[in-house]
Amino acid sequence: MSRQPAVSVCFVCLGNICRSPTAEGVMKHLMTRHGLSEHVHVESAGTAGYHVGDLPDRRSRLAARARGVALESRARQFTQADFGRFDYVLAMDEANREHLTALAPDAAARAKIRLFRAFDPSAAPDAPVPDPYHGGPDGFELVLDLCEAACLGLIEHLRRELPP
Ligand code: 4NP
Repeated sequence: MSRQPAVSVCFVCLGNICRSPTAEGVMKHLMTRHGLSEHVHVESAGTAGYHVGDLPDRRSRLAARARGVALESRARQFTQADFGRFDYVLAMDEANREHLTALAPDAAARAKIRLFRAFDPSAAPDAPVPDPYHGGPDGFELVLDLCEAACLGLIEHLRRELPP
């Protein structure tokens, strides 16, 4: 019988069609390789509701697919109730973090919010995953590079946190 995942992670950006679905897809891909898929539940959401129900942006899906990563989530807006469902609420940039902090109902919820790239040991402490939506293809490749590095750091962190 399979156990409930011990830990839950929600990646959060603005629209939930570019950065956070990419982080979700990369994390699921890397967790399979690292044998963590049964232990960690992963989702993504947006602080805004502009794209609710949409697949990830086509540019994100194509760039991810070229690296063997499937992006299959549907956009949804992060809600206050989500603070009860997730252990880690990981913001892509400072604006997302501020939005989440304002939405958090209490100190326990606020303590779950971190900048995603804080898990990348090579990144500056406040480094964002830049929004690629209004830019060219390079921005989507950069998002993938940054998500891969931060997800590997997050996996290392979760390995230390998970029960034996
Ligand atoms: P994301 O990118 O936050 O990485 O999903 C964006 C997607 C859509 C919009 C902005 C950012 N928009 O303004 O519609």
